[in-house]
Amino acid sequence: GGGPASSMEHMSHGDMPGMSVADLTGPTTGIPNVAVTLTARKQKFQLASGETIDGYTINGTSPGPLIRARVGDLIQVTFVNESVPDGATLHWHGIDVPNAEDGVAGVTQDAVPMGGKYVYRFKADQAGTYWYHSHQVSSDEVKGGLFGPIVIAPAAPGDVVAAIHTYDGKRTINGRTGTGRINLAAGTTARVRVINTDNTVLRVGLVGTPYKVVAVDGRDVHGPTPVTAAYPLPAGGRVDLEAVVPAGGMRLVAGTAAVSLGIGSTDPPEAELPADTVDLLTYGTPAPLGFDPAKADRNFEYRIGRQVGFLDGKPGLWWTINGHKFPDVPMYMVAEGDVVRMKISNTSGQAHPMHLHGHHAVVLSRNGVAATGSPWWVDTLEVGNKETYEIAFVADNPGLWMDHCHNLPHASQGLMTHLMYE
Ligand code: C2O
Ligand code: CU
Repeated sequence: GGGPASSMEHMSHGDMPGMSVADLTGPTTGIPNVAVTLTARKQKFQLASGETIDGYTINGTSPGPLIRARVGDLIQVTFVNESVPDGATLHWHGIDVPNAEDGVAGVTQDAVPMGGKYVYRFKADQAGTYWYHSHQVSSDEVKGGLFGPIVIAPAAPGDVVAAIHTYDGKRTINGRTGTGRINLAAGTTARVRVINTDNTVLRVGLVGTPYKVVAVDGRDVHGPTPVTAAYPLPAGGRVDLEAVVPAGGMRLVAGTAAVSLGIGSTDPPEAELPADTVDLLTYGTPAPLGFDPAKADRNFEYRIGRQVGFLDGKPGLWWTINGHKFPDVPMYMVAEGDVVRMKISNTSGQAHPMHLHGHHAVVLSRNGVAATGSPWWVDTLEVGNKETYEIAFVADNPGLWMDHCHNLPHASQGLMTHLMYE
């Protein structure tokens, strides 16, 4: 990549022992079931609600087009950078694609320069709600609009996608400020796929009827029960909320009722979210994980802190992992097939939504209290200040993978590392 040195891009690739990213691509042959061209531009554009934004678009809009595929489909995306000066890529946030398709500038590919293109090919292997975004100078390009939703599941009548994003201080749902409405008949089972594309956690939820949290980060929740509460959706995270549309309609609320989406055949009343919060540590019922986290091959510690002062000749604040800021943070080395346990603690004074590429991890405990609900699989985990989480995952996707804070300015201020296969 050729952008500013503070961006998430200064890894050199090609030093992975015994493998190169060329060995880690998606299927190179076969006719795609879903083939799209996505063209990125830097431009002034209008939000769906009319306000003019100076930012970035994909195929002329932000959010970019919804990509929809079914499990087993081969997806092919031809990405064209028409006018993004710093270059751009597409990362498939939450889809555990082969490494070379991961779209991280400086790690799995070079940023696509203006006038260039890049073809991504990968199989849709797990149903769920995901999103795509540029992974070059991400803190600027994602904020400016270079992202869109991707859903792996057949289109169903009650399926609603709601990407929440703040453009230039204006919070939107699907690129619209204020309150909108989606027309769904009473009695329809709605599945509302909420995507937080901003940098901070957001309380979301349905008001007007109880709802179930049926999936988190593209993984089903086991045994969900109806709640009337808010769900704290981490930056980068997704949650699927399910409810039967009541006679008077219901409303998806993004933080405040002033930014909400009516769902029903009439406009439901505006109401704020309840004070209660859904806690996934105890929500739902247990189910097999498919591996035994007690038999770990690797145990890692991951302590998030901060340093204030002059660093790299500049006064500022840097986030650290085990006392180091990127790129001085050692990589986490694993071998294929390892059961990996990680203890993440945070004494940095702020919350950090930690995002691991290429893998889903299960939450084992928070602050020493074991998880007792549904397996809580995440690709993006909100780690609050003074919190400690234990997570575990299977190293089943070889390559070089980023692990970083999805409050994207924090990533460029040192809070990132990599997971690397031996
Ligand atoms: Cu959604 Cu490394 O990012
Ligand atoms: Cu952070």
